[in-house]
Amino acid sequence: MKILITGGAGYIGSHTIIEILENTNWEVISIDNYSSSSEKTYQRIEKITGKKVTYYNIDLTNLSLTEKVFQENTDIAGIIHFAAFKSVPESVENPLMYYHNNLNSLINILKCQAKYNIPNLIFSSSCSVYGNLTELPVTETTPLNKPESPYAYTKQIGEKMVDDFIKTNANLKAISLRYFNPVGAHKSGLNGEVPIARPNNLVPYITQTAIGKLEQLTVYGGDYSTNDRTCIRDYVHVCDIASAHVKALQKLVEDKNFEQHSIINLGTGIGVSVLEAIKAFEKVSNQKLNYKIGPRRAGDVEAIYANNTKAKELINWTPKFNIDEMMFSAWLWEQNLNKM
Ligand code: WQD
Repeated sequence: MKILITGGAGYIGSHTIIEILENTNWEVISIDNYSSSSEKTYQRIEKITGKKVTYYNIDLTNLSLTEKVFQENTDIAGIIHFAAFKSVPESVENPLMYYHNNLNSLINILKCQAKYNIPNLIFSSSCSVYGNLTELPVTETTPLNKPESPYAYTKQIGEKMVDDFIKTNANLKAISLRYFNPVGAHKSGLNGEVPIARPNNLVPYITQTAIGKLEQLTVYGGDYSTNDRTCIRDYVHVCDIASAHVKALQKLVEDKNFEQHSIINLGTGIGVSVLEAIKAFEKVSNQKLNYKIGPRRAGDVEAIYANNTKAKELINWTPKFNIDEMMFSAWLWEQNLNKM
């Protein structure tokens, strides 16, 4: 079975390709324009798995170039669509770049899914679609609030586009996976997140501060109404996220009676504050982290973590890694990256 991964050179995409190559006999092709990654990712995938990936350097907002991949590969059984910009603060600063890229890429993928009759789609969504919530943990039926950033809006609109589109064609099915906060790196220490510039996300910022690439971490906000006054998130190991994609696609392929469009939370169900994440890092790295408490960041929600019952029931997925293991794997990767 041949699977198309968009954004396969990226953080979650590359870990999912590794999971597929190590656990299935599926063939993988990847599309990535390296806007937040590089071709080197494919060498790391080959080093870990011993397998090559066919890949294309294409901007998915260009429909005719995207179609060429489907014309060259007439046996694609499923698409996992990761490719999107994903920084909350960057989307606040540059909303049109996010609406253009994230929505036009998805529209082109959906057009190709219909035109080339690709039965199965996994859409990479995000917990940021929930906005600021009072009732936690969130389930997939928790009403969506106003998204707090343009990035979150592109995911909320994206899910609606998938839902409306899939209903027009009985031959097609989709699962939208709402990731909470993917962090960590492959256990081999040979693949992980490679921020192109100064990282926006917490965990790479922690590891780059610890290794000396960055001077000091700023904790964005110490005045939230949480126990230690810092934001709470549901951090989930990127390899747990990867295994969920394989299980979700297997379900779509094998279960012909599966719902036409399902939405599934991918989180551990455990809320961890910024200060607790820092303490976990200090414990596993045996290092004191240089940080200060600063002002809040625009676009941040105060707290969010998942009810992940549906993932267990529908795709038999249970996250395996805890916050210490997430931090340890991230730290091992940062140390190896520093030697490359
Ligand atoms: C986490 C917490 C920050 C950096 C992410 C992804 C998004 C989506 C949802 C998947 C927040 C705080 C951060 C720093 C800090 N995931 N922080 N100092 O904003 O929750 O969004 O998860 O699709 O794609 O970006 O993640 O890691 O940026 O922030 O205090 O230097 O860490 O305020 O409370 P976020 P994040």
